[in-house]
Amino acid sequence: MSQTPDLYCVMGNPVAHSRSPAIHTRFAELTGEPIAYERRLVPMDGFAQGVRAFAAEGGHGCNVTVPFKTEVPGLASECSARVQLAGAANTLTFRADGSLYADNTDGLGLVADITRNAGVPLAGRDVLLVGAGGAAAGVLGPLLLAGARHITVANRTLAKAQALVQSHSALATLQKAELIAQEPQAVGRNFDIIINATASSLAGAGVPVPATVLRPGSLAYDMMYGPAAQGFLDWARHHGAVPRDGLGMLVEQAAEAFLLWRGVRPPSAQVLAEMQQAT
Ligand code: ATR
Repeated sequence: MSQTPDLYCVMGNPVAHSRSPAIHTRFAELTGEPIAYERRLVPMDGFAQGVRAFAAEGGHGCNVTVPFKTEVPGLASECSARVQLAGAANTLTFRADGSLYADNTDGLGLVADITRNAGVPLAGRDVLLVGAGGAAAGVLGPLLLAGARHITVANRTLAKAQALVQSHSALATLQKAELIAQEPQAVGRNFDIIINATASSLAGAGVPVPATVLRPGSLAYDMMYGPAAQGFLDWARHHGAVPRDGLGMLVEQAAEAFLLWRGVRPPSAQVLAEMQQAT
């Protein structure tokens, strides 16, 4: 007798582009976990209602993508320490007692992709995080916890970078890491690792930092993937850096969510290799 699969989804607006259903479906095939994973387009003002409706249908949990990540903490019964620090979440678990547990696996996914898949250690390294919106907020804590020695947060709007640094200053002190905020044009040095967490490519704008932040062999990472990352990757390659897009981060954040929901770690490196071959 076949078992009815447990239902999960990704909620967002837009959501048609999301590769999460393909990733989780492949994880389920490879682990034998009985899950079904869908896309749910949620109206801009209807996130809370969308979550409640999905839970009422018997959903077991969901991933959350743009623009709802910052709405999750206000809805959840309990938030992980990562969510409290970032002020945003990408994973909700619907518990049997009806409560909602929020976590943020984006930063874990980024760290796993940089250290395991790209083979670049973060411990003791100097990192430039470009951007100070939700995407940057979701990864700063995990970058500090991974042992970065120094992190500069550079953002067009300096006040937002300063606020992000302020909210992470206690963790930076605990980790004995240096953490500073700067305007992009004022960053007068180069770094081991440069991470683009801005939406500038979506806005049709160029790379938001001067090329002097790169040196030959730097890892230049764009948290986006596909055409949106191309300009940044070309720029990095042109200046002798090692370019990498965010496809691995996407697969690894999904793997952390799958582990949270199912207690089973899926073979994420295999799934990433399959997706890279398919593109
Ligand atoms: P996300 O959730 O994707 O991070 P967000 O919270 O709207 O989205 O943040 C977008 C980030 O991209 C911000 O750091 C933003 O800079 P500002 O804080 O100055 O707005 C950055 N960004 C967007 N368009 C940009 C552009 N054309 N040049 C430089 N930075 C840009």
